[in-house]
Amino acid sequence: MFLFKPLTIFTLNIILSPLLVYGEITVDSNELIPKKLKKGQGVIMVVGESRNVAISAVHRTPETTADCHGNINEITKTYEGPCFLSTQDQQQTFHAKCLDSPGSATIVFHKDGEKGNTVETQAVDGIWTGFDDRMPLKQSNMSTKKQGVKVILNCYNNKST
Ligand SMILES: *[C@@H]1O[C@H](CO)[C@@H](O)[C@H](O)[C@H]1NC(C)=O
Repeated sequence: MFLFKPLTIFTLNIILSPLLVYGEITVDSNELIPKKLKKGQGVIMVVGESRNVAISAVHRTPETTADCHGNINEITKTYEGPCFLSTQDQQQTFHAKCLDSPGSATIVFHKDGEKGNTVETQAVDGIWTGFDDRMPLKQSNMSTKKQGVKVILNCYNNKST
């Protein structure tokens, strides 16, 4: 089965590609996430088993785009973190869902240079989120004005690394 999997994904891509009118999350398992992010860069990191958190793009205008580490489901368009994105030209909105517990979160990276928060997370049903890997994560809505933000997600506890 394993040997046929890449072929299946490839075939699905061809079948689905005429339907892909949205901006897309692309998969790049070789993407290197910088340790320190610059202004205009954003990351969604998953602590624990990354395949247990399905990340998807929330379709707004302009469309959300990102490079994520892997594909979780080609049909539902859910992806495995980490995801790397740019806020230089547009707002980017994502949904993250824990797959073996009820938690989920909406993550909004605001466009560079806009007044107010750079990133907001809205956590539901007990997912832990945070922006700093030296601090415990929290089960609540959070926001930051920091530039170059890493959003950390954990479905099991408040550990940020
Ligand atoms: C979190 O944010 C959402 C959207 O702004 C709001 O509807 C909700 O009440 C907030 N939840 C908490 C616990 O503050």
